[in-house]
Amino acid sequence: MLIRDLLLYYKPGKVFDPMSGSGTCRDVCQELGIDCWSGDIHKGFDLCAPHHFYGEGRSFEPYGFDFVWIHPPYWRQKLYAADSRDLSRAATLDEFLERYALAIVHCSRMLRKGGKLAVLDMCREVSAVLHLVQCDRETALVSGESAAALVRLTAVDRRTGRTLSLRLAQFATFRDDRLVSLKAIFDSFDAVEQTLGHQIDLSAVA
Ligand SMILES: C[S@@+](CC[C@H](N)C(=O)[O-])C[C@H]1O[C@@H](n2cnc3c(N)ncnc32)[C@H](O)[C@@H]1O
Repeated sequence: MLIRDLLLYYKPGKVFDPMSGSGTCRDVCQELGIDCWSGDIHKGFDLCAPHHFYGEGRSFEPYGFDFVWIHPPYWRQKLYAADSRDLSRAATLDEFLERYALAIVHCSRMLRKGGKLAVLDMCREVSAVLHLVQCDRETALVSGESAAALVRLTAVDRRTGRTLSLRLAQFATFRDDRLVSLKAIFDSFDAVEQTLGHQIDLSAVA
């Protein structure tokens, strides 16, 4: 089990598990004798809500955990809770991505320096199809507490053997050596054309 291997490898003292679902991470922590805080929208805890993490009445002191584990929902593929704050129920993809980014920022605020954040996500689905072979930083710009990077990813489509060259732009801001926001833009249209192996004819809709 992935979470077990990660915990055995990193040996964290305290684990933050804010999208616990059926409680796999909590159960493994219990088995390994690791202190773990678990919450979920099912229990009324909204990871995307800033008031848990900032201000006088916050629920947590920052930087108190060594390891964060999240397995976020996908947008509208499976609806988890009958609660409008359930991330999978976000009204639009933009809202989903905004709230997803907040979830990541809140998790990273929980980490001590050198702590690890593990996100079990579509990488699992993507890796079934794509084999990532190279990641090159083409451009990086740093100014004060902001940074931007253009990254080229080279991957092989396992189904066709076709090599794809994908570009990803990332924009990050930091405060006190901590990540406070992260946005990424991916040219998914180009990725689809490369996957198909031909250009998409848009003349009918252009
Ligand atoms: C993919 S499942 C996690 C499964 C989990 N790893 C397990 O062992 O069962 C995603 C979880 O995120 C929870 N969730 C969705 N939106 C949330 C939010 N805003 N805050 C906290 N938890 C949320 C869902 O209720 C669901 O349990």
